[in-house]
Amino acid sequence: MNQLDFFKKFNRLNPVELSVTIVGFLLLTSCLLCSLFYFDNVVGNGGVLRSSDGLTWWFGVTAGANEKLGLSSDNGTSKFLELMLEKLRNKRLVFVGDSIGRNQWESLLCMLSSAVSNKSSIYEVNGNPITKHMGFLVFMFEDYNCTIEYYRAPFLVVQNRPPPGSPPHVRYSLKLDHLDWSSSKYKDADVLIFNAGHWWTEDKTIKSGSYFEEGHKLKMNMTVEAAFRRSIETLVNWVDSQVNISKTSVFFRSYAPVHYSYGTWKTGGSCHLHTQPDFEAPYMPYTWGHFNILNDALSDYAIRSNITKVNLLNVTYLSVQRRDGHSSIYSRGPIPAPLHRQDCSHWCLPGVPDTWNELLYAVLHSNFFTVAS
Ligand SMILES: *[C@@H]1O[C@H](CO)[C@@H](O)[C@H](O)[C@H]1NC(C)=O
Ligand SMILES: *[C@@H]1O[C@H](CO)[C@@H](O)[C@H](O)[C@H]1NC(C)=O
Ligand SMILES: *[C@@H]1O[C@H](CO)[C@@H](O)[C@H](O)[C@H]1NC(C)=O
Ligand SMILES: *[C@@H]1O[C@H](CO)[C@@H](O)[C@H](O)[C@H]1NC(C)=O
Ligand SMILES: *[C@@H]1O[C@H](CO)[C@@H](O)[C@H](O)[C@H]1NC(C)=O
Ligand SMILES: *[C@@H]1O[C@H](CO)[C@@H](O)[C@H](O)[C@H]1NC(C)=O
Ligand SMILES: *[C@@H]1O[C@H](CO)[C@@H](O)[C@H](O)[C@H]1NC(C)=O
Repeated sequence: MNQLDFFKKFNRLNPVELSVTIVGFLLLTSCLLCSLFYFDNVVGNGGVLRSSDGLTWWFGVTAGANEKLGLSSDNGTSKFLELMLEKLRNKRLVFVGDSIGRNQWESLLCMLSSAVSNKSSIYEVNGNPITKHMGFLVFMFEDYNCTIEYYRAPFLVVQNRPPPGSPPHVRYSLKLDHLDWSSSKYKDADVLIFNAGHWWTEDKTIKSGSYFEEGHKLKMNMTVEAAFRRSIETLVNWVDSQVNISKTSVFFRSYAPVHYSYGTWKTGGSCHLHTQPDFEAPYMPYTWGHFNILNDALSDYAIRSNITKVNLLNVTYLSVQRRDGHSSIYSRGPIPAPLHRQDCSHWCLPGVPDTWNELLYAVLHSNFFTVAS
């Protein structure tokens, strides 16, 4: 689905208005309300969003304070969220991917729960708190019998022990032809939103001893780019063979850029001095590399099979301009973090992922929801 076509239909969300609106809104709120709990490297339970006593607000700010910020008292906003909940009645909406996918999941939880007055009616079905390394988390919105779920699968494909007889420096293999084991749990969901990319780097694969495997054979020479592309092809084949697309809307949310300056995530890179968006859309080879691999793999498939089964949720461009939107020094305790330990990958909430979810809603509204209702 071409986002621009869609924008033409939805005047309310045309890109210029949208960016002016989000920029204005986010400048006010962005790093004031950075969220702690979605960072993959944070140890501890984050404590903010719990199932035992219902849902507390971002950083423990109460729903009342949230109203003062104009987030839930804005009639337009709450109407759209109520409508979304209504459309999701008796449905499962599932995010699968890395911690940026989790960031988006948390954003949607926060958005939707603002439209529910009884916060105790929203809970994790297994009573699990939001912690690092949970395999999956399922939040029930009881009044709507709707679940918003997250499955952690940073590579989307299986990561496992290497085949017998592999060289000793091969600690793991990424089975490029097998979608993650959790896939059987969500193949019947009503909405699936995949994401990946941040783990498809040399650092997190080959240099960490994770090599690529296909057809039970290690592919020692395969590049990370080629392997990433294979994983997308595997996903699309899985959708083709396992998912009933008359029932399930499938999306791939495109790569979310990172904005480290003066270094990387490992070498003390920072973004705390970026307090304004950058409308120049800077040159970011890493970002566009991942974006293009994904887009090429999806389009090749769509052309070959003559049908788009996996829709691209194209958020890369608009997010590239938001170097100011990351949690930066506000992501892990103690706050503020030392300047050399910043998070310029994940995003503040409310923030950029809310916009991704608004786009998701709008796309759903324009096809699956209208078909279903
Ligand atoms: C929202 O709408 C209701 C009625 O639909 C109205 O009574 C209320 O004043 C509105 N609130 C705001 C903040 O516009
Ligand atoms: C709740 O939704 C599920 C589908 O997600 C459905 O199977 C079940 O029947 C629904 N329960 C009620 C009480 O409507
Ligand atoms: C809120 O939801 C909880 C959990 O379902 C329920 O026990 C409680 O009665 C509800 N409160 C109100 C005021 O509806
Ligand atoms: C892998 O690369 C090495 C060196 O570049 C080459 O000697 C070898 O034949 C390659 N192996 C395969 C299976 O392509
Ligand atoms: C696919 O989903 C549609 C809509 O829910 C349903 O009518 C159809 O029977 C399903 N097809 C299969 C093969 O399950
Ligand atoms: C692809 O779709 C187009 C338009 O729906 C149709 O005209 C064409 O015959 C299809 N081609 C194949 C190979 O299915
Ligand atoms: C993605 O969206 C941008 C605008 O935000 C647009 O320029 C670009 O062409 C889109 N790419 C695809 C593949 O849809």
